Amino acid sequence: MAHEFDGKKYEQASSHQKEWGMRLIEELGLKGNERVLDLGCGDGALSLQLAKLVPEGNVIGIDASQGMIDAAIPKAKKNLQFLRKDINYLDYCEEFDVVFSNAALHWIKDHEKLLQNVHRALRPGGRIRFNFAGDGNCRNFFNVVQEAMVHDRHIAYFADFEWPWYMPSVDEYGTLCESSGLHNAKVWGENADRYFPDKEIMIKWIDQPSLVPLLPYLPKEERTSFRDYVVKRMVEETLQGDGTCFETFRRINLFAEKLAEGAIGE
Ligand SMILES: C[S@@+](CC[C@H](N)C(=O)[O-])C[C@H]1O[C@@H](n2cnc3c(N)ncnc32)[C@H](O)[C@@H]1O
Repeated sequence: MAHEFDGKKYEQASSHQKEWGMRLIEELGLKGNERVLDLGCGDGALSLQLAKLVPEGNVIGIDASQGMIDAAIPKAKKNLQFLRKDINYLDYCEEFDVVFSNAALHWIKDHEKLLQNVHRALRPGGRIRFNFAGDGNCRNFFNVVQEAMVHDRHIAYFADFEWPWYMPSVDEYGTLCESSGLHNAKVWGENADRYFPDKEIMIKWIDQPSLVPLLPYLPKEERTSFRDYVVKRMVEETLQGDGTCFETFRRINLFAEKLAEGAIGE
């Protein structure tokens, strides 16, 4: 199930995602003529950075949320296009030199299918670079939302709730990648734990994107009370003596290739 985000608010609340993404882009060492697919491009800021680095190539950013695509579209240019598309139904075939994704793929439940589709989307010799949330990510937030969901006032609304995130361990994801047909796959974890500079900045992140998949389960008149409960408990759990707020951010990194034509795999 895809969720609807407020792309304008996300632009203001995503400095840590942008920090990780910019580093990932630098590491790609792009030559300038690659065709790049950005999965879950959000507000398009990272896709724009990719497009600047491939003046003779091009970038397609896809996202399922209309609110995110609306925030991305003003950044479109000659070699940068944004499309509203669901990552679960990728249908590209040998079109890209690089498939990139930052802070998005923990929203995708079936990574076996995802890796097959991404492999098909790559040209021979193309590569994948993903960074998404792994096991142990956002420990405080998940404890607090689980507590809020079983609270007497909210529990009935979550009877059919489906946990929207997939956050595997490094070992689990490594095993999945081994059986995916990808070449030279490397999976590694990363501790990106973070102190939000103050509670207001953490609250912006709670509102957009973190609470987005939960609120639709509640009737409109209950959403503010649920949100306020989560915010209050998060501040209690994470506020430090110096006014910062701590949260765990644990990442899965994937680098992999598709065998070049004529190359012999290991
Ligand atoms: C936290 S944002 C990351 C955005 C951007 N990559 C960045 O690093 O700033 C996650 C994005 O994944 C998108 N997303 C989640 N599930 C998706 C799906 N099934 N298909 C396409 N996009 C999806 C969301 O709409 C959201 O824009």
